[in-house]
Amino acid sequence: MAIRPIIVLPDKLLRVVSEPVARIDDGIRTLVADMFETMYDAPGVGLAAVQVGVPKRVVTIDATRGEEEKKPIAMINPEIVWKSEETAAQEEGCLSIPEYLDQVIRPDRVKVRFLDVDGKEHEIDADGLLARVVQHEVDHINGVLFIDHLSKLKRDRVVKKFTKAAKRIAAE
Ligand code: NI
Repeated sequence: MAIRPIIVLPDKLLRVVSEPVARIDDGIRTLVADMFETMYDAPGVGLAAVQVGVPKRVVTIDATRGEEEKKPIAMINPEIVWKSEETAAQEEGCLSIPEYLDQVIRPDRVKVRFLDVDGKEHEIDADGLLARVVQHEVDHINGVLFIDHLSKLKRDRVVKKFTKAAKRIAAE
């Protein structure tokens, strides 16, 4: 297992629609193991493969907090098959947009279908933080970022800030 570098805004790969996984092989299983290690190290509650530079439809999630027993979930080719009409607002962040947090309104509950690392299909009902993380990560594999759910003014401001920072680093 290895910690992989996480790409940050304005990396263009974050806007790519990730490819479905056709075959779950050892390469995918290694990717998943590395993603868990990278996610826990960050630390974060979710990570999409594209964030470590691999545009495949793979996400890792652990929405438990603090002293709770860890509950890692790897989702391959996840698909949100139902969303509640009720929404909830909660502060969100992203490992690819470090140190920026904002309130995001999303459906409160979702049903998600996915394959595990053994190729077995699962469907789970998620609410609370898990529902939020699932939606955030499925957004990632569709090239969507949480700032896309904010006003254009806010989004432009964040993109500009990160673009400037990237230029500054490139110039050093
Ligand atoms: Ni994110």
